[in-house]
Amino acid sequence: MERAKRVAMAKKILELANTGKAEYGEESWETDIGRFTDPVRFEVEKQKLFLERPQLIALSADLPEPGNYYATEIAGRPILLVRGKDGIARAFLNACRHRGVQVAKGCGKAAGFSCPYHAWTYGLDGSLISVPNRSAFEEKQLNGLVELPSAEKGGMILVHPQPDGQLDFDEFFGPMQDYLKDFKIESYELIHAYTTKARINWKHAVDGGLESYHTPFLHKDTFGKAFGDTPTMNALLHVPFGMHHALVGAAGDIMQLNNMPEAEWPDHCFFNSTNSIFPNTVVGGGFPLPILFFQRSEPGEKVGVCDYVFRLYGLKNSTPEERAGQMEAVKLFMEVSQQEDMKVQENSQIMMEKGVVPTVVFGKREINLTRMHKEYDKMIGHDADKAVREVHARMKKHRQAAE
Ligand code: FES
Ligand SMILES: [Fe+2]
Repeated sequence: MERAKRVAMAKKILELANTGKAEYGEESWETDIGRFTDPVRFEVEKQKLFLERPQLIALSADLPEPGNYYATEIAGRPILLVRGKDGIARAFLNACRHRGVQVAKGCGKAAGFSCPYHAWTYGLDGSLISVPNRSAFEEKQLNGLVELPSAEKGGMILVHPQPDGQLDFDEFFGPMQDYLKDFKIESYELIHAYTTKARINWKHAVDGGLESYHTPFLHKDTFGKAFGDTPTMNALLHVPFGMHHALVGAAGDIMQLNNMPEAEWPDHCFFNSTNSIFPNTVVGGGFPLPILFFQRSEPGEKVGVCDYVFRLYGLKNSTPEERAGQMEAVKLFMEVSQQEDMKVQENSQIMMEKGVVPTVVFGKREINLTRMHKEYDKMIGHDADKAVREVHARMKKHRQAAE
């Protein structure tokens, strides 16, 4: 991003920090809980938001060298990412062409993939290279793995889960591509990978990355302790980039810009950014974080569960001391995300399922949540305001019946 734009952003953050104000959106939005609990909506979302659209499912750092592979999923559809001998990252459906068994699990390095069932073997480019008792088949029945449209740029790998899907990297990221360049995503390497089945609808994990309204309260003993209660704690900008959204936070040292001529401001301008990439990927980084994180919450087998992926990256060529510092940051991120964020998100999910809250509210400080959820609704054709009106009408009826 041009320096002038970064400076303008830093100025806005500085103004918030100097005045002790928080950025407010225009609307506090009461909305329906069906977005977290409705099994019918959940199926529509899987189709419309995930299976019919490109997805940012990995960083280049997940496949650092030829032969590296990473098996993951998009809404239950098994995907195999592989870096070929030619250095190109490709995506395939992770299913053997004989009888559909998955040919790879987890991640690692391989010369090819041999199916565990009858040992059909595929090369790094997905081609079928050997079949036991080959003459038992018609040649035309012997096919390579199904390749999916994919593109790699700026350290990110975008995949469309349909073989005939349309994928345009520049169009997908829009103006956010230029913004993300500043985070130099390609200069990081994987230092920690974590996956779990989480007892939340996939949107809770995205929401956690979209707002910092909760940070001084939920994270008072972790992030709060680590970074102190500075005047910049609530100085956050909510920046839309088309369908994607950045939550831009001040780094502690930003206050020194108050006494520094603008021309001397460093290029990083003392801010970090949590970037929500539509629909469910969150990539965070920026000054002064020594690490980058990548979070993805995939719709699970039912509406109230998700497959949660959390991967952390440190700068390449770090010294052992720097890496040790990054690993400390990893520990903190793991504690915060799993012991704090995930715990309350699970509780929120379960309470919604019990039906003890009729609706939920996204306030004026949860600007990005409102924007993102309205995008989801638009794409699946859901009228949230009508759903809320219906809830209130039902409640009124119950009240009248009780009187
Ligand atoms: S299912 Fe893969 S070789 Fe038979
Ligand atoms: Fe959090």
